Amino acid sequence: MLIKSEASKVRVLVTGGAGYIGSHTCVELLNAGFEIVVVDNLSNSKIEAIRRVERITGRQVPFFLADIGDQAEMRRILESFPVDIVVHFAGLKAVGESCEKPLLYYQNNVTGTLILCEEMDRAEVRKMVFSSSATVYGDPHTVPITEDFPLQATNPYGRTKLFIEEILKDLVAADRLKQADEPWTVTLLRYFNPVGAHQSGTIGEDPNGVPNNLMPYITQVAVGKLAKLRIFGGDYPTRDGTGVRDYIHVVDLARAHVKAVEAQLDQEPGQVFTYNLGTGTGYSVLEVVRAFEAQCGITIPCEIVGRRPGDVAECYADPSLARQELGWQAEKGIGDMVRDAWRWQSRNPEGYPD
Ligand code: NAD
Ligand code: UD1
Repeated sequence: MLIKSEASKVRVLVTGGAGYIGSHTCVELLNAGFEIVVVDNLSNSKIEAIRRVERITGRQVPFFLADIGDQAEMRRILESFPVDIVVHFAGLKAVGESCEKPLLYYQNNVTGTLILCEEMDRAEVRKMVFSSSATVYGDPHTVPITEDFPLQATNPYGRTKLFIEEILKDLVAADRLKQADEPWTVTLLRYFNPVGAHQSGTIGEDPNGVPNNLMPYITQVAVGKLAKLRIFGGDYPTRDGTGVRDYIHVVDLARAHVKAVEAQLDQEPGQVFTYNLGTGTGYSVLEVVRAFEAQCGITIPCEIVGRRPGDVAECYADPSLARQELGWQAEKGIGDMVRDAWRWQSRNPEGYPD
């Protein structure tokens, strides 16, 4: 286990660090004593998030406005700012948009990651923690889901995650064949449904336009920006007919990244580690709505409509591997998630200022 004084000597490059999960992870990395540097092209975020990370932690955050797919720029950054490990969040994540613009998603997510890896390799930085997703399990045959379940993508976004996982595994395998001295080591973190916000209410999820995901939709109904929640499907084979998901507080998720970084630095290099990050408990859409109403004292008008194409009935993790190997488990419950999501939304009804 790394102690704080050792962490202060470790420099972490956070790609996509201005985004929702990235900004919360920056806070936790800084709190754990790490030095960080952020690269983000701000395609889905605002620089204000970084300023607020600085305010929460009292630390300065070196920031590069750059695209991970800009090879010359990535080379320059890695040369001028040597790092020990990369936590790689940068990517586009909207499932619907990925179906309309698959090339954009393959270019940004897959090509961007290839270029990032090439430049990391050139700079001899061969440690990466990668943001994967439970979407790589497709429509799981049963729940809870363990890491050895069959992988299958159901849309271009999911395929970019699957392809990147395979590319990273190939890098590790190639170094093993070569018996490389400083081989690649990769941690694939498969997130379930990240929600909530930092307890300060100053950083949180700031979706562009009308949210696709449940929690920001609920909070925008609560704040009066949207009229009512449409519940996609009331006829699933679940306890109340609505879809069940494994919601995880974004601060718990961020702390798992700190554990993953610490574990990689402590462990023998040349390995692939894969972990589900969820709570292990599924909540239905109606249960989330009721939890929000109970915690925040606001009624959410709802209407049950048809199923959303591509949705599955139930998806929740078996998170025991992360507990055993990383010593991590989610600590926050659904009450914390809805309360913190609401604190962020009510204090920042328009999200981050430009
Ligand atoms: P986000 O959009 O808030 O953050 C992603 C960040 O990456 C943004 O700040 C964006 O500007 C930046 N970015 C995108 N493409 C870039 C590029 N080419 N170069 C530099 N910066 C770039 O999303 P998030 O919710 O914080 O997700 C972070 C990661 O976690 C993503 O890879 C996403 O696919 C993955 N993930 C998210 C969820 C979720 O529900 N939020 C679930 C599973 C996996
Ligand atoms: C979605 C993506 C998934 C991605 C994840 C995290 C799809 C099909 N899947 O997962 O690939 O990894 O987000 O970003 O888009 N719901 C409503 N009304 C709404 C919104 C959602 O009823 O307005 C329901 C959904 O049907 C689902 C649950 O709420 O049962 C959660 O939905 P959402 O937050 O979009 O997450 P996922 O569908 O799990």
